[in-house]
Amino acid sequence: MCGIVGYIGKNNAKDVIIEGLKKLEYRGYDSAGIAINQGGKLKIKKHVGGIQNLENLIKKEDMESHLGIGHTRWATHGAPSDLNAHPHVSMDGNIAVVHNGIIENYVELKEMLKKEYSCEFYSDTDTEVIAKLIGVLYEGDLVDAVYKAVDMMRGAYAIGAISASEDDKLVAVRKDAPLIAGIGDGENYIASDIPALLKFVKEIYLIENNETLVVTADKVSIFDENRNPVEREVFHVTWDADAAEKGGYDHFMLKEIHEQPKALEDTLSRRLGEDGLINLDGISMTKDEIENFSKIYIVACGTAYHAGLVGKTLIEKYVKVPVEIDVASEFRYRDPFVDDKTLFIAISQSGETLDTLEALRVAKRKGARVLSIVNVVGSTVARESDDVFYTWAGPEIAVASTKAYTTQLMCLYLLSLHMGLTKGTLERAKYDAVIEELKAVSDKIRLILKDSAKIEKLTKKLYNRDNIFFIGRGLDSAVAYEGSLKLKEISYINSFAIAAGELKHGTIALMAPGTLVISLATQDKLFEKMRSNMQEVIARDADIVSIAKEGNESIEEQSEAVIYIPECADEITPLLSIVPLQLFAYYVAKRRNCSIDKPKNLAKSVTVE
Ligand code: M6R
Repeated sequence: MCGIVGYIGKNNAKDVIIEGLKKLEYRGYDSAGIAINQGGKLKIKKHVGGIQNLENLIKKEDMESHLGIGHTRWATHGAPSDLNAHPHVSMDGNIAVVHNGIIENYVELKEMLKKEYSCEFYSDTDTEVIAKLIGVLYEGDLVDAVYKAVDMMRGAYAIGAISASEDDKLVAVRKDAPLIAGIGDGENYIASDIPALLKFVKEIYLIENNETLVVTADKVSIFDENRNPVEREVFHVTWDADAAEKGGYDHFMLKEIHEQPKALEDTLSRRLGEDGLINLDGISMTKDEIENFSKIYIVACGTAYHAGLVGKTLIEKYVKVPVEIDVASEFRYRDPFVDDKTLFIAISQSGETLDTLEALRVAKRKGARVLSIVNVVGSTVARESDDVFYTWAGPEIAVASTKAYTTQLMCLYLLSLHMGLTKGTLERAKYDAVIEELKAVSDKIRLILKDSAKIEKLTKKLYNRDNIFFIGRGLDSAVAYEGSLKLKEISYINSFAIAAGELKHGTIALMAPGTLVISLATQDKLFEKMRSNMQEVIARDADIVSIAKEGNESIEEQSEAVIYIPECADEITPLLSIVPLQLFAYYVAKRRNCSIDKPKNLAKSVTVE
């Protein structure tokens, strides 16, 4: 989604802002812009396309200034264009605004501004409405005008504003869209995301909903919706700037695929005690509660939802409690059966996905206990949950999620094992056996990664297929969904995943010569059934590439090619079988010259509905 960076202080605002915006490029964007206060006048430059276009535009300009705001835009209202790019300005050009999110009542506000103040609009955006609104409410005090404007707006937003006539401050406000402030020495910052500021500061304030920030070079002040000052603890960021660099890999996605063994070790070791038991430090869910949950909901979006599909199987197996899983955008508009005996598990890498956040709020209102599995420490989902089970994946920059997915899986294994043992529905011997398997996972992934070249070679003859299906049974079907999403989002190949047993109920009509089917066949106990489904596909002259456990050579006669994963228990395979699928998607996309880290139309963090 969109990104915001703002700066005030002793250095040149333009340099800080451009540097910060570059760190937000991974979020996906279609235009960028900057506004600075230069000697009491606003100078605004914006350009459709990448940050590079904006940089080229301002290269020869005098952009010296101590105060400015910048933005990368991901279009919601109005096509990507120079005119629709942020910042937008008030009628008199005195105020510039950048904005993430959506103003729901922008149409009525626009009509009011036209009618009562004769405002003219040059863009299609809702953001321009904010700028004009603050402008007409401005009476020499930017903070006051922002407060008054916010009172009239509905929607989700993080807004940054500067005024030509107040060169000592920038003002920002947050409602349902992420916003942070960076604390420097004689300089201060605002941003929508931590990576934007990693190079400059490690100490930040996490801004809550309905809070307004007034930032001068010497001070960051936070106020609540009634204009009362708010005390906030400083949050120390532990990621270093290098973690957000490519480190020699061609793409962030490839780097992040290779980071999985370490990320999984980190996620496991943070929770595993020397006695082999899982410590739930920082999680206050009691034994009584675990015993008394009558139902568990897992709710998430995209890849995180696919991790939840695996989680459902694990929890039902170990904890013996019914688990419902739903995509967040559906859950929130149903009337789900949630009560105070429900455990609601939200899964989110960013912790800022609006659909997931709203679903969580629905569950909370209905009395559920909310536990989230989140990667970004201090994100909104984390802050609004009763308990947080953090993944230790580190910053995930590529839009296509990889290490976040496998670490989410690891959390779900650990959580379900812990709950099963606590409740007595899982025997210690079985528990210990699964823990041993989990400890061995990282080295097994290293073996798969070592063999990447084979997968790359395989893509040579497959990368230009028009349709690719993913099939599997049991846990393999959950992984099939994720493998298919990975492929389609970065290669733009039409890809579809289905539980293998469902094929014959309709989708098999699409099997034809030239169709490629990736068949996940790692579940020993379902293998014979899977073999029959593969036979159905072969009978329609489609080609099969199989994913199977090492030693299963019999599958070769049904497959064009087989990618083997190391031997492991059936229930562990999702942690391994997804890795060749991530590599397959990556190399196919690379051969097709796609923009791997920033696929078209997609954004890393989806903070709109
Ligand atoms: O940050 P979240 O985990 O809440 O994001 C949810 C989805 O938008 C995300 O998993 C998306 O599907 C991935 N980028 C796909 O690779």
